[in-house]
Amino acid sequence: MALNRARQVTPRSRQRWRPPTTTYTRRIDPIRNPYTPGAGSRPPALTGRDEEIEAFRILLARLKLGRPEKSMLITGLRGVGKTVLLNTFEAIAEEAGFRTAKSEITHETDFRPLIARLARRALLAVSPAKRMKERARRAAAVFKAFTLRTPEGLEIGVDVEAMLGRGDSGDLGDDLSDLFLALGEAAADHKTGIVFLLDEVQFLDRAELEALIAALHQVSQQELPLTLAGAGLPQLPALTGAAKSYAERLFRFPTIDRLAEQAARDALELPAQAEGVDFERAATGRILTLTEGYPYFLQEYGKHVWNVAPGPTITLADVKRAHDLVQLDLDESFFRVRIGRATKAELAYLAAMAHLGAGPYRSGEIAAKLGRPGPESVAPTRARLIEKGLIYSPSYGLNEFTVPQFDTFIRRSFAPEEPR
Ligand SMILES: Nc1ncnc2c1ncn2[C@@H]1O[C@H](COP(=O)(O)OP(=O)(O)O)[C@@H](O)[C@H]1O
Ligand SMILES: [Mg+2]
Repeated sequence: MALNRARQVTPRSRQRWRPPTTTYTRRIDPIRNPYTPGAGSRPPALTGRDEEIEAFRILLARLKLGRPEKSMLITGLRGVGKTVLLNTFEAIAEEAGFRTAKSEITHETDFRPLIARLARRALLAVSPAKRMKERARRAAAVFKAFTLRTPEGLEIGVDVEAMLGRGDSGDLGDDLSDLFLALGEAAADHKTGIVFLLDEVQFLDRAELEALIAALHQVSQQELPLTLAGAGLPQLPALTGAAKSYAERLFRFPTIDRLAEQAARDALELPAQAEGVDFERAATGRILTLTEGYPYFLQEYGKHVWNVAPGPTITLADVKRAHDLVQLDLDESFFRVRIGRATKAELAYLAAMAHLGAGPYRSGEIAAKLGRPGPESVAPTRARLIEKGLIYSPSYGLNEFTVPQFDTFIRRSFAPEEPR
């Protein structure tokens, strides 16, 4: 009896004794919000990428010893953390005493001037213009010859003549090889190495990628300390013949994707813990389900639940409260920007895909959904969507979005026939 009464009394008495909520100090401070949704934004906890980071460290260490090792072209969907990883590689390389030069390729990128800018930056980082040793001065001379073929001039501030006949033939592969070899020798002479970092590699056309690969192949044959790490969407241009076999010898193509469960949990919880805030297990679980472990979505959820949570912990109710805000932000900053440059026909193609359900999608089925006779009739639209980096082909005849959860975004934004 007494026990029973005690049981009944306890909750009420606890309620009575709880201080009014208004006297709680708010423990979740929006100023200290640690989450970082945004392209290339360094996350508060970089989780789930240890393998790639370790492989890159090994690559650098071996390069120093003049031992051959494959470099990396990281591929993956939008928002999985390719740029963040490339930036991490850059920091690791600098820390290991390498000189780096990084650039992002876009649709409009003019390749030769881009390479010239990277080469210039790398060479001047290897040695200031005034203190260049013989090999570096030679590289400056090759650089000058190389820039004779670029539309815009680029000064390097080294008093040497252009080395005519080196890097100025007009054949991209040959010229790039001359330039990279000269840079590699200069770096070795100055007891350092060069790491080029290229983001959005899928925007290179086939000839450009083949030229890069040919040049890197030459460099690796000479065991020079120069390498290139890249990142891009799943579909890099299909290489063939010699270029393909070189590429496979020169590069590994690790795919990064959504984070595995523990890594996703850590990405969300560790930054909060560092600020003294805990997630209820159910709250984390719900966010992992909604985000499917995609890094961009995790950061977006983290940011919003933090801001709406009254505290002291982050609860399932907070996740519900944040949901619409997350959706709104993602639509604006992550999804809608992708279709800004899409034409009506391209939008119709995307809508047809999305309204087929979950991918991947057969070209024939998409054409049928559009009421067109066959895949050939919409092939040009498909080709332009691939070129713009909105879709890719995971294997022959199949299509998939390059943005995770893009099908749901399109379905909630467009009716099947609307964008025609
Ligand atoms: N390993 C990771 N753990 C947690 N968050 C990450 C991780 N990698 C990236 N992010 C976050 O994901 C978002 C997208 O990263 P980004 O490098 O721009 O992706 P991508 O280049 O693949 O489109 C950023 O907000 C970043 O902070
Ligand atoms: Mg990126």
